[in-house]
Formats: sequence, C-alpha cells, structure tokens
Amino acid sequence: MPTSLLPYNTFGIAATCDDLLEYDSVDALRQLWTRIHAQHFLHIGGGSNLLFIAPHLPYTLLHSRIKGIEEVGRTSDEVVLRVGAGEDWDDFVAYCTERGFYGLENLSLIPGEVGASAVQNIGAYGVEAGDRIVQVETFDTQTGDVCNLSRDECHYAYRSSSFKTSRRGRDIVTHVHYRLSLHFHPVLTHKAVVQHLSDSGIDPEEATASELRSAVIAVRRAKLPDPKAVGSAGSFFMNPIVPQAQADALLAEHPTMPHYPDAKGVKIPAAWLIEQCGWKGRTLGRAGVHPNQPLVLINLGGATGAEVQTLAAAIQADIETKFGIQLIPEVIFVS
Ligand code: EPU
Repeated sequence: MPTSLLPYNTFGIAATCDDLLEYDSVDALRQLWTRIHAQHFLHIGGGSNLLFIAPHLPYTLLHSRIKGIEEVGRTSDEVVLRVGAGEDWDDFVAYCTERGFYGLENLSLIPGEVGASAVQNIGAYGVEAGDRIVQVETFDTQTGDVCNLSRDECHYAYRSSSFKTSRRGRDIVTHVHYRLSLHFHPVLTHKAVVQHLSDSGIDPEEATASELRSAVIAVRRAKLPDPKAVGSAGSFFMNPIVPQAQADALLAEHPTMPHYPDAKGVKIPAAWLIEQCGWKGRTLGRAGVHPNQPLVLINLGGATGAEVQTLAAAIQADIETKFGIQLIPEVIFVS
C-alpha cells in the first residue's frame, strides 16, 4: 500500500513511498532492520530539510519515535542530557529553557527532530547544535551494532557532520547527548535579536533565557514563513564560503556586498546573491522565492518536488553566471 508522505515533509510535497515504518526503541529498530536490511530504505526525521523529487519512492522509509530526556551527568556548572532522536527539537529547547539548562535558546523554533539536529548541525543566531553535543548514539546499519560517537568523531562544521560525509548513509541516530550550562551566558551576536530585545525594553545583556528565546521566536516568525501555513524547508541553500581573493574581486565590482569572515574564507549571504539576481518574490510554476527571505523557496500550493528543483536550478544558474559562485542546496533531494 503506497503511503502518503504529505505529513512527513514541511515542503508539503504530495509524494508517496512503498511503506513507512516507525519504531520507539533501539530493540524495535533492530527487529525492523533484521527484517528489511536487504532492501533499499531511507531514514527521515521531521522532514523539514527534505525535498521529495520523485512522485513515488519505490522503497521503505524509516522514522524514529524514540522519545525521552534523561539526565546522565552533572557538575556544579553543567548538565548532560541524553535525548531520544524522535523528540521534537523545539519542545526540547523549551524543556531546557524552563529548567535552567542553558545554551540552546538561539536555536528556538527550528523545525525538526533531535536526531536530525546531530546530523545536520542545525544553526541560527550564532549558535550551532554541534557546539553543545558531547556524544551521539547510533545504530550502525552496516553491522547492526550500537555505536557511541564522541563529538570529535562527528566532525561538526557549517551544516555538516560525518553523518553527511564519511559515514553518510551508515548510521541511524538513536540518542543525542547535549551538554548544557547551569549559568546563563546569552549569545548576542545577531543584530536582529539584540534589536528585538531593546525594542521590547529589555537590556540585551540583562535578558533572561526565556526573554532571549522569545526574541528569537519573534525574529524567526517575522522573517520566515510558518511551516504550518506555507510549504518550505527553511533555508534552501547554504551560504557560500569563497576564498579571500574571490571575495576581494567581487567586492571591487559590488562594493555593497555583505560579507563575513569565516575560518574557511569569506561567507557571503546567499539571500543577497538571490536578491541581486532578481529572484526575490518571483515564482516559477507552483514554486516561488519567499518575498521576505529569498533563501527560502516555497510551495505556492500543489507544487511537485520537480517544480521546486527546476526553480532551484534556475536560481543556481543565474548566480553562477553573475557571480561565478555555485550555490549548494542545504535541503536534501530524495528521489
Ligand atoms: N539578505 C538580503 N536580502 C534579504 C534577506 C537577507 O540581502 O532579503 C542578506 C542580508 O545581508 C542579511 C544576510 O542576508 O544580513 C543574512 O540574512 P539572515 O540573517 O536572515 O540569515 P541567513 O544567512 O539568510 C542563516 C541560516 C538560517 C538562520 C539565520 C540566522 C543558513 C543557510 N541559514 O540565514 O537558518 O536562521 O542565518 O542565524 O545558514 C535554516 O537553515 O533553515 C535557517 C533558517
């Protein structure tokens, strides 16, 4: 029986798959794996970073329902929480903020699940999930063993980890260990968040964790479409990082180009590149570019994955021609 994937992707693409299997424990996952392990399968999270290209995926999809947040370590300064991969990400951030476990406030309201946070190294407003991860428990689909990977073994980088590179397709994340601080030190590197606190009459340096969380939620709501109302997968592309010499040449031609120093070169906002190419607010078929945040591609209603892919390719081609930069999708294409 083909299963609809509509409830499993925030883009709102009406694809189907052969079967979708869910499990709520490592033992249940092992039993499923024994049954299907010879077949082609794919594991998904909250579906907030996926684009289903084919109308039907002729294989089985797996989805974690492993829940639970348990304290597994504590010092006078920090606590370590072991979190089930199937927990909703923002529920987990709210849980921490309410209990005085600090460090994830800036990652409030990011759609998705805890398992994907460790794969994707989600990030926003100067904080990345990898900054706070100490260990990731996985089920190794090659051997059927449970693995404990240290933070170093996860090789966290901008929107990347070893789960997307050297170990790609191998692990199913079952639990993530987060190290949270018992002392609140707000990360106030993002202008929009600081401005929102000031406008609300709060001295940013004196803000509480819940005030910071509220400010981040307000900034996201003002900029990004509500995934419940408009189909999207958040940022569609990664912000490109170019070598210093290329940035200097581009700046000579485009002196107003925003740019930020990065360990690997110079980061240029993809939103700016897309806007410069005239794509902000434009549509192609039933897919479009969000009018407030051009890094977000949207489903105008009934779009197929292929339509979104066509729009993405047209944007990439224009940016390559005008700036000589290749935009890399952050969203994972599934076909
Ligand atoms: N900009 C424009 N035109 C616009 C909007 C933005 O030119 O219409 C330029 C501006 O120069 C602005 C810059 O883009 O300063 C950066 O914009 P913004 O602060 O909104 O962030 P972003 O780089 O576009 C990244 C993440 C977001 C995250 C925000 C905040 C990526 C791919 N995206 O977006 O993550 O929320 O920073 O930290 O790194 C996501 O991954 O789904 C996501 C939403």
